[in-house]
Amino acid sequence: MTVDGLQSETRTGKYLVYMADHEGHISIERAADLLNLGRRAVRRVPSRKDFTMDPEALETMIRADLARGDQPFCVVAQVGSINTGAIDRLDVIADICERNGLWFHADGACGAVGAMLPEKMEMYKGLDRANSVTLDPHKWLFIPYECGCLLVREPEQLRRAFSLSAPYLRGALPTEYTGLDYFEYGPEMSRGFRALKVWMTLRHYGVEGYRKLLRQGIRCAEHLDERVRASVDFERLHKPNLYIYSFRYAPTADQKATQLSDQDRARVDARLDRLNQHIADEIQARGIAFIMTTKIHGRTVLRMSICSHRTTLADIDAVFDALTQIGRELYPEED
Ligand SMILES: Cc1ncc(COP(=O)(O)O)c(C=O)c1O
Repeated sequence: MTVDGLQSETRTGKYLVYMADHEGHISIERAADLLNLGRRAVRRVPSRKDFTMDPEALETMIRADLARGDQPFCVVAQVGSINTGAIDRLDVIADICERNGLWFHADGACGAVGAMLPEKMEMYKGLDRANSVTLDPHKWLFIPYECGCLLVREPEQLRRAFSLSAPYLRGALPTEYTGLDYFEYGPEMSRGFRALKVWMTLRHYGVEGYRKLLRQGIRCAEHLDERVRASVDFERLHKPNLYIYSFRYAPTADQKATQLSDQDRARVDARLDRLNQHIADEIQARGIAFIMTTKIHGRTVLRMSICSHRTTLADIDAVFDALTQIGRELYPEED
């Protein structure tokens, strides 16, 4: 049921959503599940080397699905992906959506707010053409957990989808209130006043205050990248875009082992996978930093999300030195 929902694999006319294969977020599959479309309704589009969706592959898939009689209806672009902070080619995806009459959703949970930085504007070109944008103020706006946000171009479309009324929902007396009744714009009825903490924090920092903090996070990720590139113990996996950075403990001796047979390569990779996991576990256990692992092209790597407004370059140095130290301690054990 979760795989196909109410649309069987063999039936044509299936509603389909598209997102990048490497960095697309599982919450989109969750949404397809909740809509009863089934997880398979989310078509994974091949990614390019920089972890962004390949727009040509997207259009080819859409055409093939249309020709088969299916009904593509939405493309989800990444605006700061979960592992590498990748930002899809939003302007190109917007064109494709326009040409094919599809809803253009921008998943900016991690990175949408970076659009407020003039120096990053080029990367965000096309974001203003999205039909909807999600962002998580509890990530890069430093708001306490939890607070998600959806921006829509035409709120009336949400109202048409969600509005339900009942006598007990509105008082009988006429009221002068003309604001939004949020229960008409989404699935939640009783809801907390999450917007208050966002509003207060926005008022406190202001746009310039936020720009300063966002730049600090980006600078930290760039500094981490500089340390990785200068180190013989770590391998660089991507250019830092925003504040999320993945990298791999892979001492030069192992990395350079290009002459290995496929079998030996697989053995070295499996050992490095264990080692990266072990390093992340250890740095957490020692109470130094909360570093997670993730998979990049199937390999276990370290992932840092530098989204605290208090993190400094000195913190990055301290954590990187600790990672190096722990790696060197564990490396012989893992043999
Ligand atoms: C890229 C991306 N999209 C969507 C989500 C889901 O957001 P939430 O956990 O707030 O539901 C996340 C959360 O990590 C994310 O990183």
